Amino acid sequence: MGVQAISVTIEVHLTNGLPKLLIVGLPEAAVKESQERVRSALLNTQFEFPLQRITINLAPADLPKEGGRFDLPIALGILAASRQIPSDTLSEYEFVGELALNGDLRPVRGVLPMALAARNASRQAVVPFENAKEAGIVSGVSILPVKHLLDICSHLQKITPITLYDNDQTPHSNYASHIADLSDVRGQHHAKRALEIAAAGGHNLLMMGPPGTGKTMLASRMPGILPPMTEQEALETATVLSIARNGFNADVWGIRPFRSPHHTASGVALVGGGSHPRPGEVSLAHNGILFLDELPEFDKRVLEVLREPIESGHITISRAANTAEFPANFQLVAAMNPCPCGYLGDATNNRCQCSAQQVTRYRSRISGPLLDRIDLHIEVPNQPRIELRKDTAREDSKTVRTRVIAAREIQLQRCQKPNNLLGNQDIDKHCRLSDTDERLLDTAIERLGLSARAWYRILKVSRTIADLAKSESIQTAHLMESITYRQLERKK
Ligand SMILES: Nc1ncnc2c1ncn2[C@@H]1O[C@H](COP(=O)(O)OP(=O)(O)OP(=O)(O)O)[C@@H](O)[C@H]1O
Ligand SMILES: [Mg+2]
Ligand SMILES: [Zn+2]
Repeated sequence: MGVQAISVTIEVHLTNGLPKLLIVGLPEAAVKESQERVRSALLNTQFEFPLQRITINLAPADLPKEGGRFDLPIALGILAASRQIPSDTLSEYEFVGELALNGDLRPVRGVLPMALAARNASRQAVVPFENAKEAGIVSGVSILPVKHLLDICSHLQKITPITLYDNDQTPHSNYASHIADLSDVRGQHHAKRALEIAAAGGHNLLMMGPPGTGKTMLASRMPGILPPMTEQEALETATVLSIARNGFNADVWGIRPFRSPHHTASGVALVGGGSHPRPGEVSLAHNGILFLDELPEFDKRVLEVLREPIESGHITISRAANTAEFPANFQLVAAMNPCPCGYLGDATNNRCQCSAQQVTRYRSRISGPLLDRIDLHIEVPNQPRIELRKDTAREDSKTVRTRVIAAREIQLQRCQKPNNLLGNQDIDKHCRLSDTDERLLDTAIERLGLSARAWYRILKVSRTIADLAKSESIQTAHLMESITYRQLERKK
């Protein structure tokens, strides 16, 4: 349910009568088929399949059950009910796993939230061998990796105990080494500066400029300058990945996600959904970056849905059967051209043929409220070749990242969260301006026609700029720089 693993109790009752197996408690197709796998697995591993009437109840009854994960506990339930294995210690464990016909255990999705739930219930988690690494991310829970049905039976019979998985074997990495370096980008100092501010404070960023000026290039280098995730963040992100369709890679967990869905991606793929709600790109980007390249090409309705998670950090998916909530605290990085042809306002060549109407229509695909939620708007202009050639002393990602980490540290010490997540009360307290600066901001807001939300967002960005400068208070220069990042809104 969302990212929660809900405990399911499996009851098995054997009575005399015509041999028959009945599964009740909202099982779906894959669970109904479970009886065939369980039957074969038991018969292929020396056990007897009771020739009685077998009733299996999956409780709670109103929760739809899907997938093959119940195979193992169903098999053990039948074995215990027919007294082929002892049942006295079963309640010390949580079991999960899909059975192959020969009794091998196959990996399943969502083992990470299950391991968390097992820890909270003070039970040991019995998981398929291939899922052990994933479960091992959770500290403080005993994990029993199982390759075959016989292994766990032999363990429960106290013949051959299973060795506990060493949870420390799954260390978390915090830096993606394969990411291209920021020093590859020539010129574009203004954009690089904005990228650094966005990374430091977790702010949303929109880049606008003609084709081929390095927007996509800049965005793809963002992960290389982000601060490392905290333990808690890493665990949250891993949990979402654990229940996602293409799963979770325990070898690279702990790295902030960078998701760049294509603009043709469906609404469900982006925001999540399905009859069994699955997380979409916005949740897979939790605690990381959601990069929307060619922003105006995205389905307008999908873009509007983004407004909720940007503000709240999570997304709710309602379906007839149930409602699921997924975390979606992503940092939005978007790129776009200034007009349909791409060349509007390009100083080096004047080839834009778009009519004013076309430009307006193009820009209006991104609504005011969405734009309002993006703190930093920057232009990534075409730069003369000479300028680019001259730019030889370029900083690498590592240098920038050091500054970003220092600024983030200050934020975490101040409010235990990045500036982007500051609430209005935090802002009133920590983003004070001098009287003159207050007036300066009022004037700017009025002149630019910005909203009250923009007012708060400008203050948050100013705070980050001050933190990068290691300044206790927000200075006039910090505020002024922050205001410049909102000026694109009126240029139409
Ligand atoms: N500032 C730059 N420094 C170095 N190389 C650059 C720069 N800008 C562009 N390039 C080169 O041009 C290529 C295209 O850049 P990129 O894809 O980032 O452009 P873009 O701004 O995203 O364009 P579009 O609007 O068409 O998507 C890059 O792969 C790179 O080789
Ligand atoms: Mg591009
Ligand atoms: Zn144009």
